[in-house]
Amino acid sequence: MWIFGLFQAIPGFLTIPPPTFAPVKSTRIMKTWNKRTFMIVGFLALILALVQLYRPLLENPPVTGEIEVPPDVAQILRNSCYNCHSNETKLKWFDELAPAYWLVTSHVQQARVALNFSEWDKLAPPQQKARLFWGLNRILANEMPLPEYSLLHPEAKLSGDDIEVIKKYLMKISPRDTSVKASSSSVVSKPKKDSIISWSLPTANGIEFIPDYQQWKAISTTDRFDNGTMRVIYGNSIAVQAIADNNTNPWPDGTVFAKVAWAQAADSTGLIRAGEFKQVEFMIKDQKKYADTEGWGWARWRGKELTPYGKDALFTQECVACHKPRKESDFVFTQPLVFKKP
Ligand code: HEC
Ligand code: HEC
Repeated sequence: MWIFGLFQAIPGFLTIPPPTFAPVKSTRIMKTWNKRTFMIVGFLALILALVQLYRPLLENPPVTGEIEVPPDVAQILRNSCYNCHSNETKLKWFDELAPAYWLVTSHVQQARVALNFSEWDKLAPPQQKARLFWGLNRILANEMPLPEYSLLHPEAKLSGDDIEVIKKYLMKISPRDTSVKASSSSVVSKPKKDSIISWSLPTANGIEFIPDYQQWKAISTTDRFDNGTMRVIYGNSIAVQAIADNNTNPWPDGTVFAKVAWAQAADSTGLIRAGEFKQVEFMIKDQKKYADTEGWGWARWRGKELTPYGKDALFTQECVACHKPRKESDFVFTQPLVFKKP
């Protein structure tokens, strides 16, 4: 951009009024004029030189520790992600032309910092997995590959089959896989396509992530100034109906609560609003299915990577223990507004 600004400025230099002075002085004017021209030319040369200096920044550093995945997964990553997220960037001719080239360069630089499949061994194995899960979520949200890139590089877009291949692979590499099979209650089923914005593995007690909560009704909000989070509690349609019917103790089977926590962030006017997503927790009512855990299925996913919380199914003891003081109100803290019948 600044280079265009410079070109606009040049005519300003060149339209200096012609010298109307006595001949004696004119040589001096000519001298300064020449000096200016000289400076402009010199400046342009300098910029050209700088532009040349800028180009080599997009070199491909050596591949130090490439991600090891089955060939079908590797093929998809190479095809859709490697141009930005690896040290094997291959540019099309139209990517090489400035200013497109500069945009591409900055994308690649940012992308390599965020995630680099050529330096994969720099991450600890749990981080590697979390990055892959997060990658899948960004694909499902149509954020990756970058939409402006997919527009010019349609071959990079992932097909539905590609996405299935990645999901299957992630299920396989999850450390929880064995424990999931061991606990009889859990079956990993395919998530519904169109409702999905986020995707994650089930928790150790076999509860699957429920992305739909984002469309549910907010029942209550709380904030905790001590740990700086903001929370919203959502209820599904059965919960909302139960509230309307004043039928909340016990809550009917099928009731689901979601409690979402964000970090508090203050904007420039000092207003507090929801910042970074922290976690989402669920309580799912089913007297029979969850008889062992007071009639509720408990689940929590943490961070934007949506990492299932809890090493094994015993994590629910923690939830139950803290919710126990509310036994008289079916283990639920939130007291929704009671709609009085007219
Ligand atoms: C045109 C370049 C480009 C392509 C192709 C691309 N990405 Fe990215 N990606 C970026 C950039 C730039 C960032 C950093 C900025 C951001 O997070 O949006 C990024 C960030 C990410 C992040 C990190 C997000 C975070 O919050 O730390 C993940 C995960 C990711 N990309 C996954 C993928 C996957 C998986 C693919 C292939 C299916 C892919 N990207 C293809 C440019 C690209
Ligand atoms: C340290 C105590 C504590 C622990 C441990 C705890 N909770 Fe809670 N939970 C609360 C409190 C207090 C509320 C009320 C809302 C608020 O103040 O944020 C709540 C509310 C909720 C709600 C909204 C419904 C309601 O009861 O109001 C859900 C869903 C929930 N918790 C899920 C879980 C899950 C799942 C776990 C275990 C992974 C868990 N909680 C562990 C204290 C706890």
